[in-house]
Amino acid sequence: MPGPEAPEPAGDADRPTGPVRRAVLVGGLGAVGAALTGTWWCLTGRQQFAADAPEPAGTVGPHDTVVERTERHRHWSGRTSAITLTAQPGTLDLAGRQARTWLYGDGPMSAAVRIGAGDRLRARLVNRLDAATTVHWHGLRIRNDMDGVPGLTMPAVPAGGTFDYRFVVPDPGTYWLHSHVGVQRDRGLYAPLIVTDPHEPGDHDHDETVVLDDWTDGVGPTPDAILTELRSGRTGGPVRPVMAPSSPWGPMLSELTYPLHLANARPPEDPYVIRAKPGQRLRLRLINASAATPYRVAFAGHRMTVTHADGWPVRPTTVDTLLIGMAERYDVVVTVGDGAFGLVAAAEGGTGAARVVVRTGSGATSPPGERPAELTRRLLRYADLHPAAGSALPTRPVDRTIRLLLSQGTSRRPTWLINDQAGPHGKPVTVRQGERVRIDLVNASAMAHPIHLHGHTFALADTGLRKDTVVVLPGKTTSIRLQADNPGRWMLHCHNAYHMELGMMTELDYLT
Ligand code: C2O
Ligand code: CU
Repeated sequence: MPGPEAPEPAGDADRPTGPVRRAVLVGGLGAVGAALTGTWWCLTGRQQFAADAPEPAGTVGPHDTVVERTERHRHWSGRTSAITLTAQPGTLDLAGRQARTWLYGDGPMSAAVRIGAGDRLRARLVNRLDAATTVHWHGLRIRNDMDGVPGLTMPAVPAGGTFDYRFVVPDPGTYWLHSHVGVQRDRGLYAPLIVTDPHEPGDHDHDETVVLDDWTDGVGPTPDAILTELRSGRTGGPVRPVMAPSSPWGPMLSELTYPLHLANARPPEDPYVIRAKPGQRLRLRLINASAATPYRVAFAGHRMTVTHADGWPVRPTTVDTLLIGMAERYDVVVTVGDGAFGLVAAAEGGTGAARVVVRTGSGATSPPGERPAELTRRLLRYADLHPAAGSALPTRPVDRTIRLLLSQGTSRRPTWLINDQAGPHGKPVTVRQGERVRIDLVNASAMAHPIHLHGHTFALADTGLRKDTVVVLPGKTTSIRLQADNPGRWMLHCHNAYHMELGMMTELDYLT
């Protein structure tokens, strides 16, 4: 629906204009903080204005702040979508097992967001939990004060409170949203976020989302109980490492063995079914929303053509199977045969799997425990993927190189470190507006880490592949190139929910 805002000038989102001074940045964030204590920031939980009513004047912060100025230069289509996300206790029916958990609305699929590129999203978060929460829009290059990181870009929304997010969505692609408080996203507080592109050729008959998740809440220990276990350094119970020496992620895949793996919030015994006709082309948007599980995905009897990575178009590449790390996304296209076929996401190195069934004709549905032969055939590697025309980060000389050492603490208290510091209290990494930065992610630990930077997409130094989350394998170094074009204070962290909570996080701050 059209929003009440006046149209804003179109411009190049990547190049904010005007002088950028540290004082302005600090002042800007301070002003937003002040606005949060006004009517816009509703601590009481009472509804202060309807989702489509005009906002009180001056509530977003003065227009001379650098964040606001950057937003003004994002191209807005003139359209606004208003949604409400209600974080609340609820029940997921997992093939007859009732799992009490925390959800947005009725669960991940009911809360899925679809919006056009360039549209403005007005999203009201209503917190009906007993705990403070926020929503983070994973992968979206939006204004910093809407990024949903408690204590960094906003205060957490207290129990009973509401918060109104409002921003222009810049890029089409497959994204997701999740809570950014503690290990809440290892409950059901996540949903797909699909940004459609009106100009995309759309060379497919069906557009389906498949969101993968490792599940324990309500059927095993709560995520908070797991975190306490991990902190204590004890093993046994949920803390049972998954070892897989032959995996590219190996030898140690995870500290945790999950009781269940879900696809579209359903267990393999009661799968989500996609119905199509033989010969039709399916676009499958794969999202790994798990806290701690990399999945190896294959489609029984078919090959998959990868068309997008983390939302960005790549030169189409056909493989049998792919490994998707926590928070990564791949879009694949398949031409589906006649029958019923399992799209299987096997927990890498583990025994469980999630799956979806694609049915185009008659034929029995494969058993829940099926392991398609494709899982052991040609595996996608990052080196296979190259940005499609128009998706590459423009070439420019690097102004500065930043080295980030990823390691495990040596103390008896388990920690995960970046440059020998456990977040969130470490020294931030700093960049200046307009800089081209190279970041060397040096993994000195024995586990792989999916490293995510908020508010930006970077390019892998080798291939130029655009991503917002990159898996750094054990003992390896991955270099990325970054254009500093979105001022603010941004999280940079491992997307293993438990590694992050145990310290593997830092922030990237813009200086003058
Ligand atoms: Cu998916 Cu810090 O986020
Ligand atoms: Cu990690």
